[in-house]
Amino acid sequence: MDGNGRWAKRQGKPRSEGHKAGSEALKRAVEAVMEAKIPFLTVYAFSSENWNRPAVEVKQLLDLFMRALTREIRELDEHGVRIRFIGDRTAFNAALRDGMRRAEKRTAGNQTLTLNVAVNYGGQSDVTQAARSLAEDIAAGLLKPEQIDERSLAKRLALHDQPLPDLLIRTGGEKRLSNFLLWQLAYTELHFSDVLWPDFGAEHVQLALDDFARRERRFGGLSAPEARAESA
Ligand code: IPE
Ligand code: MG
Repeated sequence: MDGNGRWAKRQGKPRSEGHKAGSEALKRAVEAVMEAKIPFLTVYAFSSENWNRPAVEVKQLLDLFMRALTREIRELDEHGVRIRFIGDRTAFNAALRDGMRRAEKRTAGNQTLTLNVAVNYGGQSDVTQAARSLAEDIAAGLLKPEQIDERSLAKRLALHDQPLPDLLIRTGGEKRLSNFLLWQLAYTELHFSDVLWPDFGAEHVQLALDDFARRERRFGGLSAPEARAESA
């Protein structure tokens, strides 16, 4: 969800207004995704690198997050949304951690949409902690080095209990991953939109889905006609 700051600047407003508008855009996007009957959505709300922003902006972002946790949770719960958080929560204060825990607990049984919110998340540290967990099991004699494979590592990553993402959308014009779900995106289709996140709406979600529908996914294999021609 990129472009909040530029959106605010264009309107001659402080960056905090961009983030506020961005949180409204997130509500709309969640609705559009549910409308499209998509069962899993992961949003990158706060990266492990976002701490590098000025302290006031970090505080604004975390305040917004806290407010969303308290204000929106009821409606999300009523709509059958299951909330999960990925990332290192130990950096957050007790109130925030408690709010996250309560939101997860309250919505744990919901089945319409799983909404993963990445906060203080980084893809490299996701893989690093999986490697550490493998090493700990080896040190404890529970695992042999030759048993390390993609599966045993993937099991220890964030979102290991959910399907791999089919589609990634990045707004705001930048064409990079910025340390988001690095392992999990190996075969994900990438959709880059120039729209600044606060302007992103249901119509843009639909454009991304239309783009995705036109992609041919081969996962390293051949296209269906090619495969038929080869076997004929
Ligand atoms: C993304 O918008 C919002 C978060 C980091 C939560 P930015 O704040 O990165 O907006 P730009 O890139 O400055 O426009
Ligand atoms: Mg940005």
